[in-house]
Amino acid sequence: MTNSEQRENALTRTPIPLWLSLWAQVNRWGERLLGTFWLFRYFSSPFPGVLAHHFGPNLFQDHGNAFRQATVDRGEPTSNYFRTSGISACADANGGICSFRLNGQIAIYQNRNTPLMSDKVLTPSTNPVTGLFGDFVGTLPNDHPLRPGKRAAVERSLGNLNFVARIEPAVRKHAVDYLKSTVSQEIALDDFALFLVAHVDSFVPGILDFTQTPLTTYLASTEYSRVTRDFIEIASEAIGKVNPMAMSNFETIVPFVRQVLTDNFEALEAAPDSNLIRRHFALWERSLTIPEINNLDSAKLKELGSIIIATYETTSLSLLWAIAFLETSPTIKARVVTEARCGSNQEKLSLIDKVVLEALRLGGSNPTALWRCTTAPFVLHHQGRSVIIPQDTMMWLDRRQANCDPLIFPNPNQFDLANIDAILKSNRENFNTILAGNRYDINSFSMINSHGNPRKCPGRIFSVRMQSLLLSELYSRYEVSAQGIDLCLKHYKTMPRPAQPGTIVIKPLVE
Ligand code: HEM
Repeated sequence: MTNSEQRENALTRTPIPLWLSLWAQVNRWGERLLGTFWLFRYFSSPFPGVLAHHFGPNLFQDHGNAFRQATVDRGEPTSNYFRTSGISACADANGGICSFRLNGQIAIYQNRNTPLMSDKVLTPSTNPVTGLFGDFVGTLPNDHPLRPGKRAAVERSLGNLNFVARIEPAVRKHAVDYLKSTVSQEIALDDFALFLVAHVDSFVPGILDFTQTPLTTYLASTEYSRVTRDFIEIASEAIGKVNPMAMSNFETIVPFVRQVLTDNFEALEAAPDSNLIRRHFALWERSLTIPEINNLDSAKLKELGSIIIATYETTSLSLLWAIAFLETSPTIKARVVTEARCGSNQEKLSLIDKVVLEALRLGGSNPTALWRCTTAPFVLHHQGRSVIIPQDTMMWLDRRQANCDPLIFPNPNQFDLANIDAILKSNRENFNTILAGNRYDINSFSMINSHGNPRKCPGRIFSVRMQSLLLSELYSRYEVSAQGIDLCLKHYKTMPRPAQPGTIVIKPLVE
């Protein structure tokens, strides 16, 4: 029996008072029978005595309408709704968890980074947007026979410290090539980060190998700029704001992928085996030829599209936050400049590595709050009590607030490297240990916290190391200045973006 199964069993035995279980069951039957009867709904708390419940904004409604008005109509970040509605205060007063109802559905809200359940009782992460992602690994149930191979296609290289160490010189070289081309130009900081990452991802051998027509070409094109820039945003809005309307007209991913593969065909043919596209063709037992590319169905093209976009999009948004925080934190920037130019004594986790982690914590690049639905009942243990959570419950994690947990971080709402020092268990920690499957201090690579999340992003090691290398090249070789950055969260975006990204100018150091 695994540790988590033992824990699950032990906790399952925690007694629930009989009258509470019965009352909860009566409530749920009542709700089914009298779903629209407001009085019953108002007075029924789904998990009495175990979880506090936050009722809707008035006697007649649950949170559904107010949530939609705030997040979709007024474009507020989802985490803001939880704060302004009082749901997060209710959770704060009750150990970080409470329940609420959204359009009649029972939902559990969490604003702390602790795992609540096994991943086995949750829907696949991208369930509400399966149509966008095709055969992408994130759409498959945990026990699907194709999941291990698909995950390995990414994880064997991008999740492997040795592989990532081997490509470091190439990352640095291509970063320098790109940075040179931007010298003395005033560039919007979000475009700067996006094009830098997309350039490096296109040219580093063994990742995408789009060296004939790099991703930057499509990002700048009229035809594909929307899909290549907004794909993740659209998926995030459909999930994070429970807004399926966001998904319309996004089939351009299909011609985009066919085009990028055809334009880069010779480069892909000659690419190392670790290349993500080649790995997928091998998984499908297809040879990489032009006729096979033309024969790929839309589910496979969307699968590749999701992988291609995942490679640069989220990394570039994280990098945008890192530069934005540094450019508005002069003391930390000065320390970074010194480390980048003079080197660091620390072997495992450098100051720049800590900057990347701290930017992920406070900014990051997945929505401020996300949810997954339960596929089976499970026992939730909370503050010494237990309750059975039924199937079809929405499990929400408010990532933004969980990442600012004052019980973990000494200066939770500020960009401060002391927040990272506070989670280090020893001076031997590195990216691998801090971002391991059983570490939950910072949420950025899991949708919600499940025990040892088997879906935790397989590209995370590559992504954080790459950001660290890009910052090191940028601040070691150039005088960097930026202006007009507003670090508040932008409205009408579900991915967390600065309200104003500002602009950046880089000038070579005078020798
Ligand atoms: C800062 C950068 C990144 C962030 C914040 C991020 C975030 C995430 C998140 C939140 C998930 C969902 C995990 C879950 O279901 O609980 C995920 C899954 C995934 N990510 Fe990333 N990601 C990043 C970079 C990358 C990169 C560079 C790749 C490379 C291809 C990648 C590929 C994937 C894949 C394939 C999955 C699906 C994993 C599965 O279902 O098992 N990601 N990522």
